[in-house]
Amino acid sequence: MANSSSGESVAERIVRVLRTFDADRTAQTPSQIARRANLPSSTAHRLVGELVATGLLDRDEGGRVQLGMHLWELAQRGSRALRLRQAAMPFMERVQARLREHTQLAVLERGETLFLERLSHPHAVSNITRIAGRLPLHASSSGLVLLAFGDPDLRRRVLAAPLAAVTPDTPTDPAELTALLERVRAEEVVVARGFVEAVSTGIAVPVRENRRVIAALSVVLPREAPTAGAIDELRRAAAGISRALERAP
Ligand code: PHB
Repeated sequence: MANSSSGESVAERIVRVLRTFDADRTAQTPSQIARRANLPSSTAHRLVGELVATGLLDRDEGGRVQLGMHLWELAQRGSRALRLRQAAMPFMERVQARLREHTQLAVLERGETLFLERLSHPHAVSNITRIAGRLPLHASSSGLVLLAFGDPDLRRRVLAAPLAAVTPDTPTDPAELTALLERVRAEEVVVARGFVEAVSTGIAVPVRENRRVIAALSVVLPREAPTAGAIDELRRAAAGISRALERAP
């Protein structure tokens, strides 16, 4: 793909444009996109025009653009995320109906926890996860499961970098985190009390496909809620998701 004078490929600049959109910024003018993507105005206007013409962005009557329905369609079609989500949904719904708290499904994506699905309940405790949102691996319960069962190289890299505290209870000491990850591997569950928010406890278990851990299933409970029932529910659901995945093409 042709490179700009900065050496950046067209694909990189397109991704830079698409990344300016998020849950709080769903419609933008081409000038706002240029500023946020740090692109020359003429480049941003041209790229936005091309993306609208191909359907990856949609333009509204006011001239602002949004991520296109066609982009959603392409992203969903045949994606691993959709297959996993479809296998998981009936089991997540059961966990959520029984516990009446938030239930999440997450995968490892470029060194972070990426949430594919989240089911909520009107009276559930506060929860900062969002569908298509990210949290650090060492802070969230799902991330700790993905880190514990992930590649040893990833673990080394995460443990070698400075670990930011999201709350005063987030594990940031590499030795403490190493011991915690060993426990997660041995017990196949993590109970993260106050790691992400002081008021809540995240509980996560691994989801396997053909023995390999491919996702984490979690619930967020009030901080001092009992955990045994939730752990049982999560384990039953994770086993059901594995069976469903192994049957699905
Ligand atoms: C967790 O996964 O540990 C978690 C996630 C979101 C919250 C609280 C806990 O708001």
